[in-house]
Amino acid sequence: MRQPDQLIFLDRLLTMVRSNTRDDAPSVSHAPVEEYFDPLRYRQEVGLFFRRYPVVVAFSDQLRKAGDFATHDATGQPILLVRGSDGVLRAFLNVCRHRSATVEGKACGSGKRAFVCPYHGWSYDLTGRLLGITDGQAFGKIDRPSHGLRPLAVAEKYGLVWVVPTALETAEQATIDIDGFLGTVQPDLAEWDLASWSLHTSVAIRPRMNWKLVVDTFLEQYHFRFAHSGSVARLFLDNIAAFEQMGPHMRVAAAKRSLTELVTRPRENWRIREHAVVLYQLFPNTVLIYGQDHCSVFTTFPVSVEESVMQLTLLVDPHERQRKPESYWKATGDLLQTALAEDFAIAENIQRNFHSGANERQTFGKFEKALGWYHHEIDRALAAEA
Ligand code: FES
Ligand SMILES: [Fe+2]
Repeated sequence: MRQPDQLIFLDRLLTMVRSNTRDDAPSVSHAPVEEYFDPLRYRQEVGLFFRRYPVVVAFSDQLRKAGDFATHDATGQPILLVRGSDGVLRAFLNVCRHRSATVEGKACGSGKRAFVCPYHGWSYDLTGRLLGITDGQAFGKIDRPSHGLRPLAVAEKYGLVWVVPTALETAEQATIDIDGFLGTVQPDLAEWDLASWSLHTSVAIRPRMNWKLVVDTFLEQYHFRFAHSGSVARLFLDNIAAFEQMGPHMRVAAAKRSLTELVTRPRENWRIREHAVVLYQLFPNTVLIYGQDHCSVFTTFPVSVEESVMQLTLLVDPHERQRKPESYWKATGDLLQTALAEDFAIAENIQRNFHSGANERQTFGKFEKALGWYHHEIDRALAAEA
């Protein structure tokens, strides 16, 4: 985030503390509980958000060298990412063009020169081109250029890798205008620049709840005092957060307890990451939280209507990583996982309770307005498709 924006956010947070006010919406908002379990709605969401939107599936640090590869299945599509000898990162459907076997079975690896299908040995180069057909005479005059791995549109920027998980024709343009998609969030991501950061931890968690309910847990600080009383609540002022919509995305600054020390310091020395965490909700399913020396990335994917898989990835500033002992980073990851366990224990009950008939809709208070924004954006995107 640029320094002038940092000052604006810090001023907003300090004003809230001084006046004991919150960053309130003009009114309360709602979301119908059916949104979290209706199978028709779920199919529409998957078809739009997890087939046609760019979603974060990997990080540059996993794929730095030629021959580095990774697979990713959580979108529901089998994705294969590989960096070519030309340095270009490409994405494909991880599906053999012979009889649809999974071509690469490993989660990740390096030094790859070609992919060989384990079923009958058809092989593909790192650009997806069909290299070899075992006993090829049995297939007559097969048109090799049209039998390469089916490409997916991919973008790598600011340390993140996005893919649109729908197959393209072999010759189709496989790039994404990711800066256009990010819109006004782009300067922030450029400024934080995660490209050189290293991946410390990446763990998958399978909460038994709708994927949007997972995202909901990140969008207000109101619950910290209660749900996180034994963990992260001690780091933050109670429910002091400033919100901003940025197209379909949003950014949020949540005040740490040290915020009030700022009044004694010259403004030119104010740094938001020392006194607040900055959260981005990248529409539709990614949350980035920038702490002082690390960034945690939460990507949520639907498994079924009421089950999700969330990948928690801890990215660390390489200079900070050297300066601090491994035990510090382990404790950072453990604290995050503790907070998630606290959130998900409550939210899994929420998902069950949706079926009880107690509530027809969820109620979002004025300072829970980011939830209202998020559900509004989801509705708007689905309506635009109808
Ligand atoms: S399915 Fe891959 S070679 Fe037969
Ligand atoms: Fe939480």
